[in-house]
Amino acid sequence: MEAGELEAEKHARYILSVEKRKDDLESIVIEHLRMNGAYWGLTTLDLLHQLGALDRNEVVSWVLKCQHESGGFGGNVGHDAHILYTLSAVQVLALLDNLDVLDADKVSNYVTGLQNEDGSFSGDEWGEIDTRFSYCAICCLSLLHRMDKINVAKAVSYVVSCKNLDGGFGCVPGAESHAGQIFCCVGALAITGSLHHVDKDLLGWWLCERQVKSGGLNGRPEKLPDVCYSWWVLSSLIMIDRVHWIDKDKLAKFILDCQDKEKGGISDRPDDAVDIFHTYFGVAGLSLLEYPGVKPVDPAYALPVETVNGIFLEKRRVA
Ligand code: FPP
Ligand code: ZN
Repeated sequence: MEAGELEAEKHARYILSVEKRKDDLESIVIEHLRMNGAYWGLTTLDLLHQLGALDRNEVVSWVLKCQHESGGFGGNVGHDAHILYTLSAVQVLALLDNLDVLDADKVSNYVTGLQNEDGSFSGDEWGEIDTRFSYCAICCLSLLHRMDKINVAKAVSYVVSCKNLDGGFGCVPGAESHAGQIFCCVGALAITGSLHHVDKDLLGWWLCERQVKSGGLNGRPEKLPDVCYSWWVLSSLIMIDRVHWIDKDKLAKFILDCQDKEKGGISDRPDDAVDIFHTYFGVAGLSLLEYPGVKPVDPAYALPVETVNGIFLEKRRVA
């Protein structure tokens, strides 16, 4: 095997082994956010054409066990509901082509109930507000065809109120620009057809400045490069049509250098320990870079393009 090639099968085997291990450190650390882990792991398997290796019925029934009376989902069975896990649950069911098992009105009532007067969204009943939750709400309701249940104009104007003079976005009004929040805000604006609120050249400049000498991307000025920013930065650049402003070959090489070529998995930067989170963002980043053999991923919905097409084309057929 040539140096630098994607070890697709080893990464798939690594993900399946994490799913099965129940008692080691990584499983314990991710136990409380297992729903997010399921989304990262299953999406990676699908992008690598390896979803067949999984027992779909088992996953669907576990997802349903995590749902609360409120309609929202917890990170695992018996855990409190939160919008982060609710989006992951909807994404997992979308990926498995099983959204029909959900009562879409019930789930969307939970999401709608989290919108505040100023258009922002709280993450759960305790009320923390963050543009991450605006993205989760908008993405979730769009996948369920229930966007009409929230005040979209107010949701958009709250996201726009978090825009900074450097063209980026933060978690609340006045908070510093951060690539993860930029993905959330640009994604929310893309899904609601509101990208005209973004200064594409200014934001594109800030985003492409995230590429460092090694080819990797960082999340803020002066920070180390990290594979997860291959997703946050690159998906944003694609949504605003400025991806040609970075060196794509150097970024692909940086991601490939972060692989554990023996045991599988991808780490945040070369020679660090692998985890399922960075494995997902590495593979999804390579997908955005059109790496051969990896399925195309949708930069706004963070799901395979074929999954997103299935959901929206099907709706058009029914309508
Ligand atoms: C930085 O994480 C990332 C963010 C702030 C964005 C998180 C976005 C979501 C949870 C929305 C759902 C996402 C998808 C892909 C469907 P970090 O805490 O690692 O940042 P740091 O590098 O500053 O520590
Ligand atoms: Zn990271």
